[in-house]
Amino acid sequence: MTDKTSNQMWGGRFAAGPDAIMEAINASIGFDKRMAAQDIAGSRAHAAMLAATGIVKSSDAEAMREGLLTVLSEIEGGTFEFSTALEDIHMNVEARLKEIVGPAAGRLHTGRSRNDQVATDFRLWVRDQLDAAEKGLEALMKALLGQAEAGADWVMPGFTHLQTAQPVTWGHHMMAYVEMFGRDLSRVRDARKRMNESPLGAAALAGTSFPIDRHMTAEALGFDRPMANSLDAVSARDFALEFLSVASISAMHLSRFAEELVIWSSAQFRFVTLSDRFSTGSSIMPQKKNPDAAELIRAKIGRIFGANVALMMVMKGLPLAYSKDMQEDKEQVFDAADNWMLALAAMEGMVRDMTANRPSLEAAAASGFSTATDLADWLVRELDLPFRDAHHVTGALVAMAEGKDCDLPDLTLADMQSVHEGITQAVFDVLGVHNSVSSRTSYGGTAPVQVRAQVARWKEVLG
Ligand code: ARG
Repeated sequence: MTDKTSNQMWGGRFAAGPDAIMEAINASIGFDKRMAAQDIAGSRAHAAMLAATGIVKSSDAEAMREGLLTVLSEIEGGTFEFSTALEDIHMNVEARLKEIVGPAAGRLHTGRSRNDQVATDFRLWVRDQLDAAEKGLEALMKALLGQAEAGADWVMPGFTHLQTAQPVTWGHHMMAYVEMFGRDLSRVRDARKRMNESPLGAAALAGTSFPIDRHMTAEALGFDRPMANSLDAVSARDFALEFLSVASISAMHLSRFAEELVIWSSAQFRFVTLSDRFSTGSSIMPQKKNPDAAELIRAKIGRIFGANVALMMVMKGLPLAYSKDMQEDKEQVFDAADNWMLALAAMEGMVRDMTANRPSLEAAAASGFSTATDLADWLVRELDLPFRDAHHVTGALVAMAEGKDCDLPDLTLADMQSVHEGITQAVFDVLGVHNSVSSRTSYGGTAPVQVRAQVARWKEVLG
């Protein structure tokens, strides 16, 4: 007789139950219960396959199917009692199934193991998150397109080194992020394609001698095919790492944009006003309106990239096939997924609601000698100066304007001609910020006509 407290799944070999500390370090039910729906879907597919292949009787499979549906409704209804002694979601579900349907439940684990079971559940869970990320990214991109379309010809300063560089359009700046999130989207789709293979039926590590049909379970669960190597099937976690990498890169993009919003919404910049719905106040300073959502999005990259590093470290020294270390994969991925989705949704809301402050943008665009490059280009085009000479002449004019505490368009023609006698009145046309941005019609340039073309292209792509 085995001790009553030993685990009902493997008690046959054990004389005593686990120490409380052992149970505490071993149990994953506290977090892997989030995969309940995936676990039950996997078990249903497996049960149906066992019947179809004649491995179990149809009546037993039918009992399992109904029982599993009952377990699912108990979990969804919040009446299911999760037990730490039963370690994880797989054994919690199976134990409850046994209570509901009796001995037939004991046949469910034929030709499978918790190793292929957890790999299957986790793939299904991550796949759902990739689908959610796809939707979140698309929604954010549409919000950005709305901003870009409205402000295709609003001018603002473009920066390098956060120093005024050249005037750009608001639409162009918004569309830069559409491109970034568009690449995130393609990484999401790419990762989904690669990970959509079924580990189910790899069993513990070596496959099984039962005549299972892995193609059938793969298809039932929406996988493209079964994984081709059973050792790989139970030990691979690169799909989770790829999810975390994609999430990290996307969170990095979100963070850069968040940083811009923090700067832009400051009293010193006043480029944008964030809506009340996406700002907070201060408990002591009545004038304050803080961009908390942007700041938190900026911070999320830390935990998401941290999860990526943590799982990479968990995996890097593991011999094939399964090791319990791999149970540490889930909390990292769950946390990263939750925070990525939240950051995407919060960014979408902020972008939809924010108002660009056109007069501030335009005033800032005109300051800081932002059209100096236009002046140099004019000298090349109209006076046939080599660009290096034109750069030098323009530099002298910038220094002169700086000395007079004015902007380039405020210099007189005589001022200009004192530096280069060939300069004519026509130069003043290129010193205006609107002319500057309109002139940059090269493919991918900031001219409104180019921005509108890119908006139209992306609208078509996103549908
Ligand atoms: N809770 C485990 C995990 O998350 C399930 C797999 C356990 N397999 C085993 N051979 N102990 O990884």
